[in-house]
Amino acid sequence: MQIHPTIAGLRAALAGAGRVVFVPTMGNLHAGHIGLMQQARAHGDCVVASIFVNRLQFGAGEDFDKYPRTFRDDCARLEAAGVDHLFAPDEKEMYPTPQTYHVEPAPAHVDMLDGTARPGHFRGVATVVLKLFNIVQPAAALFGKKDYQQLMVIRNMVREFALPITIVPGETARAEDGLALSSRNGYLSAEERAEAPRLYRQIARIRDAVRAGERDWLKLEAFATAELAAHGWQPDYVSIRRRADLQPPGHEDAPLVVLGAARLGRTRLIDNLEI
Ligand code: PAJ
Repeated sequence: MQIHPTIAGLRAALAGAGRVVFVPTMGNLHAGHIGLMQQARAHGDCVVASIFVNRLQFGAGEDFDKYPRTFRDDCARLEAAGVDHLFAPDEKEMYPTPQTYHVEPAPAHVDMLDGTARPGHFRGVATVVLKLFNIVQPAAALFGKKDYQQLMVIRNMVREFALPITIVPGETARAEDGLALSSRNGYLSAEERAEAPRLYRQIARIRDAVRAGERDWLKLEAFATAELAAHGWQPDYVSIRRRADLQPPGHEDAPLVVLGAARLGRTRLIDNLEI
């Protein structure tokens, strides 16, 4: 695997590389990230990963400074997964001057769910992803369903700006007890880690109830929120939405997804399941 700290170096290496498939990350890689790398192989000739902890998508008081940085381990895992190129810029390379142009996602897509809990987050994500796309110029890029709203924002950005990139979704990788793998799981104490799968269990319960015919969304959401709160969580939302645009479902038969976000101690966890 070749490691490129600069845009110029990456571009030179990718000239003539064929169909490029791209998997952007912020590092601290786990089996969820590695699954995306392995899936990427099927979509092109050359797999490019990136590691960049993007300051723009962290709010004031969020965990930018303490976000886990494990570059050597990450490189070993990417190498083992057969990744061809790693783009790993530092802050000066990505933002040599302050980023003053931004991608502003549609308010309807971000004034809800994680966008409400984390103002400006998706603007920071969309901005860095567009910039990474321009640097890497991939034919396809993979994003995990774990970050469902992020996946929707990226898909819409690609469509509205007519970017010639196929967005490929990846399934969420989980621990045996159901907890979705996340770099932030490392913040959990042993006691919190034992409690953490409750978020998954509650959204799985909603999925199963809807599949069994329950249609009282509010009752299902309120029950799950109360269960989490009763076990020491601070829920941001538990919500049943239409998959395509994450708006509240009407009476039509649209495909649905149930999403949840809640804080356990100082750690904010998110999860979702398609119904
Ligand atoms: P990061 O959180 O590092 O995630 C990188 C990619 O891995 C994202 O597409 C995310 O959805 C996916 N992912 C995370 N956990 C997963 C899991 N348990 N199963 C499957 N896929 C999983 O998402 C970001 O970084 C950033 O916002 C980024 C897109 C890189 C822009 O900075």
